[in-house]
Amino acid sequence: MQCLHYDKTSLYIEDVALTELANEFGTPLYVYSFKQLVSNFKRFDDAFGDYPHTLCYALKANSNPTILRSLARVGAGADVVSGGELFFALESGIPPEKIVFAGVGKRDIDIEAAIKIGIRGLNVESEMEYEVISDLAERLNRVAPVSLRINPDIDIYGHPYIATGRHGDKFGITGEAALRLINRIKNDDYCDLVGIHAHIGSQITEMAPYEKLAEYMADIARKALQAGHRLEYIDFGGGFGLDYKNAIEVNIDGQGSDDLVVEPQKIISTFINAVKDTEVPLIIEPGRALVANTGVLITEVLYLKQTGKTNIVIVDAGMTELIRPSLYAAHHEIVPLEIRDPGSMVVDVVGPICESSDFFAREREILNVGRGDYLAVLTAGAYGFSLSSTYNARPKSLELMVRGKRVKVIRERQSLDDLWVE
Ligand SMILES: Cc1ncc(COP(=O)(O)O)c(C=O)c1O
Repeated sequence: MQCLHYDKTSLYIEDVALTELANEFGTPLYVYSFKQLVSNFKRFDDAFGDYPHTLCYALKANSNPTILRSLARVGAGADVVSGGELFFALESGIPPEKIVFAGVGKRDIDIEAAIKIGIRGLNVESEMEYEVISDLAERLNRVAPVSLRINPDIDIYGHPYIATGRHGDKFGITGEAALRLINRIKNDDYCDLVGIHAHIGSQITEMAPYEKLAEYMADIARKALQAGHRLEYIDFGGGFGLDYKNAIEVNIDGQGSDDLVVEPQKIISTFINAVKDTEVPLIIEPGRALVANTGVLITEVLYLKQTGKTNIVIVDAGMTELIRPSLYAAHHEIVPLEIRDPGSMVVDVVGPICESSDFFAREREILNVGRGDYLAVLTAGAYGFSLSSTYNARPKSLELMVRGKRVKVIRERQSLDDLWVE
């Protein structure tokens, strides 16, 4: 992680030693870097040059209010998937005309709210959903701005749980269904076709799926334009993958770079080249790429033990704080906050939750650690806290934002009273 470095043997985020934060605030603890967040945003924004565009941050990756406000301030829009996320986006200061609404199961109440608020576009994910949106708009006597979420049947060659653009996945509509809707919406007084959308999956690490997507979307966009629709945007979704395995060099003065696997400039110019003759503005919806490498999860070693041939390190964070390893066998680097011993051991790093799937790493070589040491689970800023739970009656973690030397609590740790709700 670029925001992380070892100064001698201590791990720092920006100018703050993480051990000091763990001592002061306790663990488990999420810590984010403000500078990393803003520089991630700028890198994508700059990649568009002067081509008109909006970066609609996918709130699901991390919807901490301070993170959202920081992104709103630098000009981000929002990709939301629920009435709750729509509320968060508006509360954080993102204007309605920069908000797009996806999701296969939008409730009537959320569709009505989106229409009344005047968001940029509702991504239609089925023909039945289009009919519902049209009926609700008629009842409200408003015109709903709709966009077609296309499922182009493109594989991302990643974990099946985060692939969303293959036929058979629940997301979007086929190209044929899109052509049918392009014709139907022409005669609809209550819906305007304002966009074409796709999001083919997450943690994409190859160029080929983006190249196929660019061609596919350009073709549908042209057909929509030929049919007489005035498209306001072509939305290529998110999915930009990171190199989770190279988050930091674990040595004295080691630095890190869990950078994007494919340079954003390369992806964005592929999108622009495919559609620039249409002059339709572009949207992308990065989630992970904006926040993953801004955050670390700090945890304390509770016990070490051996069962069979397996050495196990038990820490005080678990799948309740970061479920990605359990859910998608995702890799997160794990390093000590203080390098005390250059020797290493091969261990399973597990949490305290009563599930065998509660682990951060299996058969992983890590530096030697003992009871009471702190560990950092790296690249944890996306789909970390936002997927966290209170299973086993565990209050949710505290979250901190570091900016230079400054430290700000950006969400208090939950108390047991917050959980004991009758
Ligand atoms: C519609 C949509 N857009 C954007 C994203 C963000 O994906 P990522 O975090 O991989 O960029 C998602 C993630 O699931 C999504 O469903």
